[in-house]
Amino acid sequence: MFTVKQERTFSNQHEAMIIGLFEKSEKFEGSLKGLDELFEGQLTELVKSGDLSAKKNAVGKVHTFGKMETKRLFFVGLGKDKSFTFETAREALGKVFKEVTAAKLSEVAIDLDSFIGGHVEGMDAAHAVSEAFALSTYEFEGYKQKSNEPEKKLESIVVYTNAAEEEDVRASLTVGYAYGKATNSARTLVNLPGNMLTATDMANYAKELGETYDFEVEILEKEDMMKLGMGALLAVNQGSAEPPKMIVLKYQGKDEWKDVLGLVGKGITFDTGGYSIKPKDGIVGMKSDMGGAAAVLGAMEVIGELRPEQNVVAVIPSTDNMVSGTAFKPDDVITAMSGKTIEVLNTDAEGRLALADAVTYAKHHGANYLVDVATLTGGVIIALGTDTTGAITNNEALFEQVVEASYEAGEPIWRLPIFEKDKERVRSSKIADLNNSPGREGHAIMAGAFIGEFAEDTPWVHLDIAGTATTNKASNLGPAGATGVMTRTLALFVERFEPFRS
Ligand code: BES
Ligand code: MN
Ligand code: ZN
Repeated sequence: MFTVKQERTFSNQHEAMIIGLFEKSEKFEGSLKGLDELFEGQLTELVKSGDLSAKKNAVGKVHTFGKMETKRLFFVGLGKDKSFTFETAREALGKVFKEVTAAKLSEVAIDLDSFIGGHVEGMDAAHAVSEAFALSTYEFEGYKQKSNEPEKKLESIVVYTNAAEEEDVRASLTVGYAYGKATNSARTLVNLPGNMLTATDMANYAKELGETYDFEVEILEKEDMMKLGMGALLAVNQGSAEPPKMIVLKYQGKDEWKDVLGLVGKGITFDTGGYSIKPKDGIVGMKSDMGGAAAVLGAMEVIGELRPEQNVVAVIPSTDNMVSGTAFKPDDVITAMSGKTIEVLNTDAEGRLALADAVTYAKHHGANYLVDVATLTGGVIIALGTDTTGAITNNEALFEQVVEASYEAGEPIWRLPIFEKDKERVRSSKIADLNNSPGREGHAIMAGAFIGEFAEDTPWVHLDIAGTATTNKASNLGPAGATGVMTRTLALFVERFEPFRS
């Protein structure tokens, strides 16, 4: 897919070349000076007349009219050099790759050095190129009958650089592509309808991932769950015709199984709400209720590709949440694997039940630090909107490391508070240790607090992606639909993780 070359000359033959344009280099100084000279200053004229813009994400296509071997130039605006960051680079690259794809080119060259500036060095630029390429050109194939026309796909990207080391650029391209591709895998899992991705399908997907990357795989069946006393996950599954799965993947990157990171992802393949059934408008889209599981599996894909020196256990509780004569009901009391009893006040607060047993099981597998990811509450959407993931934690140091990763991944998160009073509310059942739905007030916090009862003293961060797992707007880095959010944050968090004593 990517080839790195050092000798960019204007006699290289390509269908097109992508060039970044800073507001300062509108005058075509530095590495772009020769290019303008080749066009006898006409590029400068285009900028002056406003036909070529260096404003962020503005794409300008210029034919080369035989002046050079490459037929077209795709300029993309990068804004001001000073404020240029990895994220600005990635976004601009996403925009221009979309245009290149729309032009149905099969190969393209890119002048990497024109994307170096501000806070972006050669290796960041290379990472941005491959990640943006993967993210922006993602499509969910779907189920429409296909036309017979052969598809033309962008198959080769030649990256020219003089400023950066060839080997470094190659390595960064690999890393960026791994992040982008894994995000796309997560997107596809989320886009799959509930009838196409059951808990069994998800378990099979995880098994394949395990085979590809040599992870240890454990899939708990219903009987195993009964033996282990996973009454919370089993309760959610009780009304379903589909068997539940507790999916475990282990990656050992250190000599000893210590400092283990537990990644836990909500894997509800479809959430009807159960007897506390969702209204007809609220039920559509609930195929995405396994967005947390998808992010965890996506992160494991990156980890499998890049093999960091870390220990990770991924745990995914998976089932759908259905209505039937056998389904669990409001007022039921169930017992979780940890031994805590739970009064079910709302069968639609099922995610926290499934996660309760998954968190306990992650600890059982030696997790010393926990991060759970879940499409958990409508409340977080009301609180933070659809661009920001909500977080809750019992440990500042762990939270710092997660925030740092999310910032770099360009996936913003914001923390919600959790005080003693909040914990008291989830412990307020008259007949059981906990209740799963203490009411509407602050219910994103209530859901987090509930999971915290199972994390106990283990450092833990909870990420509520109900608002961010899907989007109804296409962007420069992907279409409407699943976003694959938190795949990159989790993977970066694992890559960079530094153990601490709490
Ligand atoms: N899966 C939903 C949360 C959700 C809502 C995700 C909208 C994506 C978009 C979750 O299981 C749920 O139903 N939560 C309830 C909790 C309530 C019953 C306490 C909610 O948020 O309304
Ligand atoms: Mn629900
Ligand atoms: Zn749900």
